[in-house]
Amino acid sequence: MHLGIIGMGRLGSFRARSLRQFADVTDMTLYDHKLSTTTVLASELDAMVAHSIDEVIDARPDALVISTSTVDHAKLVETAIEANLTVFCEKPISLDLSATDRLVGLVAASGVQVQVGFQRRFDPTFKMAREKVVMGELGRIYLVRMIGLDHQPPPEHFIKGSGGMYKDMHIHEFDLVPWVVGQSIVEVYAEGTVLVDEAFRRQGDVDTTALILKLSGGALVVLTGSRHNPLGYDVRMELHGSADSISVGWDKRVPIRPLESKILGFEPPYLTFFDRFDTAFQTELVQFLRVVRGEIESPSTVEESKQSLLVALAAETSLKEHRPVSVDSVIDCSE
Ligand SMILES: NC(=O)c1ccc[n+]([C@@H]2O[C@H](COP(=O)([O-])OP(=O)(O)OC[C@H]3O[C@@H](n4cnc5c(N)ncnc54)[C@H](O)[C@@H]3O)[C@@H](O)[C@H]2O)c1
Repeated sequence: MHLGIIGMGRLGSFRARSLRQFADVTDMTLYDHKLSTTTVLASELDAMVAHSIDEVIDARPDALVISTSTVDHAKLVETAIEANLTVFCEKPISLDLSATDRLVGLVAASGVQVQVGFQRRFDPTFKMAREKVVMGELGRIYLVRMIGLDHQPPPEHFIKGSGGMYKDMHIHEFDLVPWVVGQSIVEVYAEGTVLVDEAFRRQGDVDTTALILKLSGGALVVLTGSRHNPLGYDVRMELHGSADSISVGWDKRVPIRPLESKILGFEPPYLTFFDRFDTAFQTELVQFLRVVRGEIESPSTVEESKQSLLVALAAETSLKEHRPVSVDSVIDCSE
């Protein structure tokens, strides 16, 4: 199998190295605006170097992996669809609703498979939680509590193009909650502030936030997030139902210090998302290769990504206007 990979930054170089491990992947063509980084990586991975998107397409890969900065995702996905190439694209698929709608239409009309990079769907414990909900083991879901803490805040140039706290970071939870709980998010109330780094305020963003989400089946979700946790990278979920209460993420590497000192056996905490979601990232790519081979359909679609974007847009409006916002009422103000 021959893969074209675009964007050789933090994620793209990780994807290229991960994909190199699969015996199936015999050829890779790499492209980034930054030629020097690409050349070094290509020599490490025995891959070909392209000097433009057109050169990647002309190399006739079987599929395209898009790991560029978010702002270019939509147009690159469109280019791949025009070339009839199966696509893997990092989240979020786009920051605006009209571009996402356009992609939803193009995917439906072309039949091209597009997988969006929400790796938490492939985390073994989140998957187990979903299965327990589906099997009815939790009974009626009452409450969900989620926490998402980065270890260190990103640099200002990343914040600038990221789409902000909701479209960049909490979009993971907006994707995950419906996937695990089996209920869509219907209403959002968001509060946010800047306590970590003034760079967030300069970019019109927040770095500390608390949200209440209402789900279609009546369950309530409390989601808290910060761009800085001195102890490490922390993603957790608790589900409380009429028959059981379960948690995801409370393992020996959870970056929090319980004051009950008798709890022993803690190991060095997770510091990055690569570390915390190592297995999930690998499984996600295994599934993508199956999509490319035509064995399965995309396990994380553009249509589903539209739903998480709608929730993020509702959160932004809620933050701005200090009121609960129904997800149905969202119209695109991002252009
Ligand atoms: N799944 C996750 O948990 C996760 C985590 C972090 C980032 N991401 C996503 O991954 C994407 C990349 O993030 P990153 O941290 O690697 O950013 P980055 O800034 O480290 O890398 C982006 C790279 O893309 C290149 N690039 C940008 N536009 C390009 C274009 N049109 N053509 C070719 N190259 C181009 C840049 O030169 C840079 O090398 C973002 O969309 C981000 O939201 C996902």
